[in-house]
Amino acid sequence: MDRQLPKRHDLAPLLKFKRPVLSPRERRLTAALTVEDLRRVAKRRTPKAAFDYTDGAADGEITLARARQAFADVEFHPSILRDVSEVDTSREVLGKRVSLPFGIAPTGFTRMMQAEGEVAGATAATAAGIPFALSTMGTTSIEDVAAADPGGRHWFQLYMWKDRDRSMALVDRAAKAGYDTLLVTVDVPVAGARLRDVRNGMTIPPTLTPRTVANAIPRPAWWFNFLTTEPLAFASLDSWSGTVADLLDTMFDPTVTYDDLTWIRDQWPGKVVVKGVQSVSDAARLAELGVDAILLSNHGGRQLDRAPVPFHLLPDVRREVGDATEVWVDTGIMSGQDVVSAVAHGAHFTLVGRAYLYGLMAGGREGVDRMIEILSGQIERTMRLLGVRTLDELGPEHVTAMRRLGPVG
Ligand SMILES: Cc1cc2nc3c(=O)[nH]c(=O)nc-3n(C[C@H](O)[C@H](O)[C@H](O)COP(=O)(O)O)c2cc1C
Repeated sequence: MDRQLPKRHDLAPLLKFKRPVLSPRERRLTAALTVEDLRRVAKRRTPKAAFDYTDGAADGEITLARARQAFADVEFHPSILRDVSEVDTSREVLGKRVSLPFGIAPTGFTRMMQAEGEVAGATAATAAGIPFALSTMGTTSIEDVAAADPGGRHWFQLYMWKDRDRSMALVDRAAKAGYDTLLVTVDVPVAGARLRDVRNGMTIPPTLTPRTVANAIPRPAWWFNFLTTEPLAFASLDSWSGTVADLLDTMFDPTVTYDDLTWIRDQWPGKVVVKGVQSVSDAARLAELGVDAILLSNHGGRQLDRAPVPFHLLPDVRREVGDATEVWVDTGIMSGQDVVSAVAHGAHFTLVGRAYLYGLMAGGREGVDRMIEILSGQIERTMRLLGVRTLDELGPEHVTAMRRLGPVG
């Protein structure tokens, strides 16, 4: 082999110095290529109690693990030789166009995860052309979210409390503030057993104990934001200091039934979605009642452990309810591939909870932007690789959901 000294004009094209990224936040977020990466950054930057509150689920966390596994176990079936130079990820959801087939799920205590909280979620969602759902347990008020994000599509999530008048006062405020959809959550007759929170002694707001102070030392940015922004409180509820489980059990009403749902629907001028449906027969009953959408969900595994995988319920529910009622799904979505699988399996729309919060904890508003960018890139690429150009072209022929577990006998 003959050797020669490298010449300057041969070396020049190889030397590609990248423009240095000065903002540490931007550097962190650009380096995150997946939602799992955002989760790792989030974990480093967030006190343990707040991170575990987000990351954790109920009891042995079996429900959540199975829901994520179900997406991992999908087999895709691509079609070849299609022109996929252009793909369209938009669709009509409850009568209005959204640019991507996912929205931001309602989550409580969001300013505790990161001080920018719900405003970061709502503004990032609107910038991307997707809806944002505000929780009853939100830490930014109904009106403040609307004011901070004018023109955005906002949904309000309702927990029915023992005090019906106060619940309905919130519904009224949401209607007045221009929220167009009510998500009625029906899977919390009582709080799930969130063991990580019990073990961490999680309280709202977080208390300063020797343990939390020690945990705070490597996470100064979170604490600085926490201590120098508006005190953490429920924006829509009276102040509370105690454990989350105690709060939920004090507020939530285990007597709520289908009749209450009909009553709520009659009070609300916009669309109604029932969140937390977990069986074909309940879905059929809701479709008959005429709700606008059914959200198959087990609350991200935070309620009943060993609950059905919502993704697996999709084909049977779709068959049962027909096309008049939109069928949505959440729980376990961590990638665009998961969203595409859900749509191909029959979901009209999906919601993401933790993926959003990992983005938020990793980098506030820009972190949520990055989460949406990651998911939308994965959705587009997966559609192209499957040979489809629109969401309507995605169908059961594109996915096989493999089951590790099946009923005995
Ligand atoms: C930290 C956290 C708080 C939540 N708070 C609420 C809530 O206040 N109301 C509600 O209906 N669902 C709540 N959820 C459930 C989400 O709306 C959604 O169903 C779930 O996160 C979907 O699963 P995923 O996290 O795997 O995407 C919460 C979820 C998380 C992770």
